[in-house]
Amino acid sequence: MGRAVGSWRRATLACVLVLVLVLVLLAGTRALENGLARTPTMGWLHWERFLCSTDCASDPLSCVSEQLFMQMADLMVSDGWKDVGYEYVCIDDCWMSLTRDNQDRLQPDPERFPSGIRKLADYVHSKGLKLGIYGDVGNKTCAGFPGSYGHYDLDAQTFADWGVDLLKFDGCNYGTQDQLAEGYRNMSLALNKTGRSIVYSCEWPLYMRPMQRPNYTEIKHYCNHWRNFADIYDAWNSVKNTLEWTALHQDSIVDVAGPGGWNDPDMLVIGNFGLSWDQQLTQMALWAIMAAPLLMSNDLRHISPQAKWLLQNKDVIAINQDPLGKQGYRITKDNNFELWERPLSGGTYAVAVMNRQEIGGPQIFSFSTSFLGNGLACNPACSIQQILPTSEDWGLHNWVSFLNIKVNPTGTVLLKVVVIGESPAEKPVMNINKKPSPDIL
Ligand SMILES: *[C@@H]1O[C@H](CO)[C@@H](O)[C@H](O)[C@H]1NC(C)=O
Ligand SMILES: *[C@@H]1O[C@H](CO)[C@@H](O)[C@H](O)[C@H]1NC(C)=O
Ligand SMILES: *[C@@H]1O[C@H](CO)[C@@H](O)[C@H](O)[C@H]1NC(C)=O
Ligand SMILES: *[C@@H]1O[C@H](CO)[C@@H](O)[C@H](O)[C@H]1NC(C)=O
Repeated sequence: MGRAVGSWRRATLACVLVLVLVLVLLAGTRALENGLARTPTMGWLHWERFLCSTDCASDPLSCVSEQLFMQMADLMVSDGWKDVGYEYVCIDDCWMSLTRDNQDRLQPDPERFPSGIRKLADYVHSKGLKLGIYGDVGNKTCAGFPGSYGHYDLDAQTFADWGVDLLKFDGCNYGTQDQLAEGYRNMSLALNKTGRSIVYSCEWPLYMRPMQRPNYTEIKHYCNHWRNFADIYDAWNSVKNTLEWTALHQDSIVDVAGPGGWNDPDMLVIGNFGLSWDQQLTQMALWAIMAAPLLMSNDLRHISPQAKWLLQNKDVIAINQDPLGKQGYRITKDNNFELWERPLSGGTYAVAVMNRQEIGGPQIFSFSTSFLGNGLACNPACSIQQILPTSEDWGLHNWVSFLNIKVNPTGTVLLKVVVIGESPAEKPVMNINKKPSPDIL
């Protein structure tokens, strides 16, 4: 009996130790536990398109004002944006008054937000949407408005009282590296303490990286998404540099991403002025591959049908929002082409072929399907659907197929590759003579 009890105790102890070990290991990769951002956040953010325009007298339609956000909320519902998943209407820098109120709380500029943020949140909520706001970890925001340093609890509570649903927390004027890290952590805890569900969008690694290697395990534990790299501009060079940075750092950032925590390569600038059509296709396709938050910064009052079609493309959005939540990566790069893939749920892969050339006409990239999914994506067979630039069925392929894909300069062809089961019953009959689509030669 005694021996039995002893061994039972030992077994219990062993179980407890294993459990503790498992918990410690799980804790290592745990996302911020607020239940939010299970798929990348989708919405609209004012910064890239409207910047810090505060002069409503001379530019009433483009100044950062409650009017702007109410109009965007209206259009997000009436023009189908909400139906395809865009949900957060987000305010960036320059919404504040230059001083705090007599109780030390942040307050909006009274001329531009005469109804107050609480009313704006109510309005946005009445449309079935959510409201995002902006703050800064340091003493001042990037544009010089009051920062949250020394006020993390108060500001979190103010945002919660107003009914805010997302906080973009910038890192300008952060002080020391210790203040930066402590500030991002403290604000995360402060948001949690309010009891309100608020997506926490950080820029912590962006400001940390010049000095120190970011600890992504820790960042993911406190933030729902985090910016790693410079602000995006409405220019191909900016999109290209963002992609190159991401690919060069993919070994340290791709595995961190997952439900609850995402790498944020910054806003979608599709529908503006600086990108050609092919470059807009590239941004949309690669933001889907990167499991990036889809925060558009454009003017929904004036957007071309083409840009709207691209931003509302359900097949691309489905790739971005895939429930497996694995971020994609670059498989290979040569002088002319980049090949990227993203594992999706159900053994499916999204594949992007980008033509880097900025000269000449469409070029052909040829590769074996055995490149994809570590050789598994088309083994023994797969069906391939082209998603962008247009939706086309490329039919069945197998593990020895070669694809010859024609891509415009700075453009991208986005594919979905669905593996066809291994059991003989499911094995497809290969139709060797099937006429390929014009893009497969
Ligand atoms: C606060 O954090 C705890 C876990 O630490 C979590 O269970 C809870 O849902 C969080 N609350 C909010 C409002 O984020
Ligand atoms: C903010 O200003 C105070 C007072 O000057 C200073 O003590 C503190 O270190 C500053 N914080 C940051 C993050 O720079
Ligand atoms: C963070 O919170 C801790 C605990 O409340 C506090 O001691 C510390 O001063 C805070 N740090 C900053 C930068 O506000
Ligand atoms: C990163 O942060 C985690 C969680 O705070 C910690 O356990 C780990 O030791 C840190 N890693 C490094 C290399 O500092």
